[in-house]
Amino acid sequence: MPTFRPDLVDIPVYRPGRTPGEVRREYGLESIVKLASNECPYEPFPPVTEAIGRAASAINRYPDNGTREVRSAVAAFLEVSPDQLWFGGGSNELIYVTALAVGGPGTSAVYAAPSFGLYRIATRLAMAEGVEVPLDEDDRHDLDAILAAIRPDTTVVYVCNPNNPTGTHVSAAQVEAFVEAVPERVLVVVDEAYFEFPTAPDFASALPLVADRDNVVVARTFSKAYGLAGLRAGFFIGPAPTLEELRRIQLPFSVSTLAQVAAIEAVKHQDLVQERTSANRRGLEAITAGLATRGIDFADSQTNFVYVRPPMDATGCFEALQRRGIIVRDLGGAIRISVGTEEENRRLLEALDEVLG
Ligand SMILES: Cc1ncc(COP(=O)(O)O)c(C=O)c1O
Repeated sequence: MPTFRPDLVDIPVYRPGRTPGEVRREYGLESIVKLASNECPYEPFPPVTEAIGRAASAINRYPDNGTREVRSAVAAFLEVSPDQLWFGGGSNELIYVTALAVGGPGTSAVYAAPSFGLYRIATRLAMAEGVEVPLDEDDRHDLDAILAAIRPDTTVVYVCNPNNPTGTHVSAAQVEAFVEAVPERVLVVVDEAYFEFPTAPDFASALPLVADRDNVVVARTFSKAYGLAGLRAGFFIGPAPTLEELRRIQLPFSVSTLAQVAAIEAVKHQDLVQERTSANRRGLEAITAGLATRGIDFADSQTNFVYVRPPMDATGCFEALQRRGIIVRDLGGAIRISVGTEEENRRLLEALDEVLG
């Protein structure tokens, strides 16, 4: 065997859930409903698919490593300057690179738990220590406790708003007060992967906070509301000098030509984004109303998924749903259900009735 880093051996190997095809064959089912990865259940916007088709014949060339056009397009939409944007092959990549750029032995990263699993893995990869702060009793970020957990060796804090896997949010005022209190030497990453979905009146992006500070970046993605998870395009909005430092160690050409073209086209179609997020809201309401009627406990979601504590063993519930062709995410103690199409949401509730008797 080759020699591997001993400090990484206890990171669990990523085991993706079984594919819809595997589940269908194993249980002899006709169709599968995949509600496990917080994807958009609808096909990409038709003009985006067309733009990808037109660009396909140019993929013998490397992509634009400077992501110039896509930064210009998204910057115009967000009313920021293109040098305040940093693109990656999904925001995942940027979170990874950030952890490496600010981490290292003798540093720590602070984040909530449970929250997006990548914060923990990226922190370990960076040889930094993860300081995990439990969510409050409403499954929300406890920003006071996160602030108190910042140590002299802390270099980064992740705030996932709304939070994955619970779907809960913290208000714009709370995030602002938090950012005000964080020492300037600590980078604050506000992960807004689900930014397009919230309807809570007190939710707002942390984007305005970027303008006056060197230490705040906002993460966004084309994987969720824009329906481009399979292409991999995400970005940070932040102060240009800070992004410049983070960018140093990014792999070249990580944002493919097709991802850039798709993002340029997708951002033009805010009407379709609205359509999809409205459909999501109706689906979320249908699912949560169904859960409430059945007396099943769930967290207050502002996203395209819901965090459910089933009145039985969560893994048992996950497996029983899977046997019925419904794939959700097992979190041990809870399951996370992504919002699907109207028909998929209906099938989910029917399957839950069977499973819970
Ligand atoms: C909170 C959060 N951040 C970031 C990501 C990564 O998104 P992507 O790499 O597809 O842009 C996800 C994906 O599920 C997420 O839930």
